[in-house]
Amino acid sequence: MKLTVVGGGSTYTPELVDGFARLRDALPVEELVLVDPAADRLELVGGLARRIFSRQGHDGRIVTTSDLDAAVDGADAVLLQLRVGGQAARQQDETWPLECGCVGQETTGAGGLAKALRTVPVVLDIAERVRRANPDAWIIDFTNPVGIVTRALLRAGHRAVGLCNVAIGLQRKFAALLGVAPAEVHLDHVGLNHLTWETAVRLGGPGGEDVLPRLLAEHGDAVAADLRLPRPLLDRLGVVPSYYLRYYYAHDEVVDELRAKPSRAAEVAAMERQLLDMYGDPALDEKPALLAKRGGAYYSEAAVDLAAALLGGAGSPYQVVNTYNRGTLPFLPDDAVIEVPASVGAEGAVPLPVAPVDPLYAGLTANVAAYEDLALDAALHGGRDRVFRALLAHPLVGQYGHAERLTDRLIAHNREHLAWA
Ligand code: G6P
Ligand code: MN
Repeated sequence: MKLTVVGGGSTYTPELVDGFARLRDALPVEELVLVDPAADRLELVGGLARRIFSRQGHDGRIVTTSDLDAAVDGADAVLLQLRVGGQAARQQDETWPLECGCVGQETTGAGGLAKALRTVPVVLDIAERVRRANPDAWIIDFTNPVGIVTRALLRAGHRAVGLCNVAIGLQRKFAALLGVAPAEVHLDHVGLNHLTWETAVRLGGPGGEDVLPRLLAEHGDAVAADLRLPRPLLDRLGVVPSYYLRYYYAHDEVVDELRAKPSRAAEVAAMERQLLDMYGDPALDEKPALLAKRGGAYYSEAAVDLAAALLGGAGSPYQVVNTYNRGTLPFLPDDAVIEVPASVGAEGAVPLPVAPVDPLYAGLTANVAAYEDLALDAALHGGRDRVFRALLAHPLVGQYGHAERLTDRLIAHNREHLAWA
């Protein structure tokens, strides 16, 4: 089996490689290709990747290259984890929205729109080259914003599934609190990428007993502290929102916090310099503890599980993924991309039925799904007016004055990445 990671020079890659090494029984990778335009990073990351494989007795071959077409040729699955413009572009996304009193974040709000506009054309070009090399290859997308990027891929007819680690992170967290094995915990997880709620926590599988009320009663403080939301709010909702909902439920508080401290991009850039230094040490042959300070916990396990299920290996039958709605949430168009538990196999992902969604969550979901549609339109066709429409539709922007100003700033900060600007 050949797997290709686009953006293989990312400092996240050792997390992924560690997963491939540990979980090789589920997913026997014979060749792992790391492709990246940044030759210096790739050399450091590739070196550590080889040492991780060898320490763990994995005899798969690790190839590093900057030649995308060679890298995807013959690949069974291609994992996308690229970042157009790097941390420098992220730094911008997190900064200029704050000037208008709006959240500055890499996937949510105006910054997330900027990231979508930079990323969609690049990802579609890569996907086209994957399809030319092997029409049967699966594309697994972790590249943010995952909902919009996956929608772009599916709409262009690609064999793609979008993936995020929020659900697996909560599954692991809840399992630890409940004192059960992670595989025992099935989440009724509903919404869009980075806009989800856990409406039930079931033991044993999709039909299992819902222990969410018990989880909240016994461990509500721990769950609330993790999300940085007040416990009484969780008790009133009776569901667990993802930590991205804090950008909505505590918007003004978050904006004040973001204004008062260095950006996450700056933190991550500093961490990346340290990580790359460590990766250059020939004595290092495992993922360093510092990597756990990045947001990608369990990302490798989710990726291995998904690739294994898609490629006929021993993957879990039900996994939380991003795929077409197709009537699952009746209040959304069929071609919206939703993030829900799905049954996953060689034919792809099919969402499990979802219980009726409380209007409290359905309303916001429909609003953000409409924004995502307009965001994709702007990413595909460009133009100031399309950017403005997407921002006006976003519930965290909304007012025309903000939308006008943010449109100008978005275009000014991203000109070099936008073919039409
Ligand atoms: C979580 C999200 C990812 C996001 C990451 C950011 O893992 O699910 O979509 O990319 O956090 O982490 P970072 O360390 O870059 O802030
Ligand atoms: Mn994510």
